[in-house]
Amino acid sequence: MNILIAEHLGFCFGVKRAVDCAEKEIKNKGENLYSLGPLVHNPQLTDRLKEQGLGIIDDIKDIKAGRVIIRSHGVPLNIYKIIEDNDLKLIDATCPFVKNIQKKVKEFFDKGYKIIIIGDKYHSEIIGINGWCNNEGIIVNNKEEADALPEFDKICVVSQTTNRKEKFDEISNIILKKGKEVKLFNTICNATDLRQTACKEIAEKSDAVIVIGGFQSSNTNKLVEISKKYCKNVFHIETKNDLPIEKISKFNTIGITAGASTPEWIIKEVISTMENYNNEEDIRKALEDSVIRLHRGEIVKGKILSVT
Ligand code: F3S
Repeated sequence: MNILIAEHLGFCFGVKRAVDCAEKEIKNKGENLYSLGPLVHNPQLTDRLKEQGLGIIDDIKDIKAGRVIIRSHGVPLNIYKIIEDNDLKLIDATCPFVKNIQKKVKEFFDKGYKIIIIGDKYHSEIIGINGWCNNEGIIVNNKEEADALPEFDKICVVSQTTNRKEKFDEISNIILKKGKEVKLFNTICNATDLRQTACKEIAEKSDAVIVIGGFQSSNTNKLVEISKKYCKNVFHIETKNDLPIEKISKFNTIGITAGASTPEWIIKEVISTMENYNNEEDIRKALEDSVIRLHRGEIVKGKILSVT
């Protein structure tokens, strides 16, 4: 059996930054610490941080004192005002790439452009971005919605960071015809692109793909979608406990990838669980002479670890 690990997987820069930020604040002790919404869409990490003392609030008005972490997805502009008015201590872990979109949206909204956001209207990143143009942006998520747009003099278009490039191109090509002047910003994050490309690469070469990440994580679900396009056998798991080891033991090459909100310890646990199962006599028999060989404690990326 060969294990093919995606060259880019797991925590992206923005999520790592937010989690590091939270861990640092937890160590600092001090006033009560809250994150506005779950820090990442990963239930295992959320539970771990909760145990360490990070509270989660859904509404900023739920607290009157303490420290508040803004997660990597960012928040609407008015939230900063509420934090300031209530004398809360702000820890802003908005991903710099998202911050950049928020600033663009505000700048062009103030200049009189109609803001069009390509993305999922229920996703917190999009809700946050729309809050930088007074919630007057139009959110479109497919070709049909773009076709139905009226015409405007000046349009500014931005994208949810986790969108796929093909989707952005398809929708933005329609929007380009809807305005006399259209400022088009491809704000898809590089981290997403790298993970999606690496995912495609392993899926094409694998008999089965394991995608590790929260079932509610939008970027993880996109990796599942891409894997399914290139590979017939795709398994979305959250932790080692979901690993369908018996099903996958019949495949020759298994690809592994993980969403941008999946912590490295969960990825390592999945890999070492595969290794442990492999050591069990019955599975060993099933695999005959094949051996999964992995470098203990270390994720070796982009290589086929085969062997013997
Ligand atoms: Fe930021 Fe990109 Fe991650 S926008 S939160 S680095 S997916």
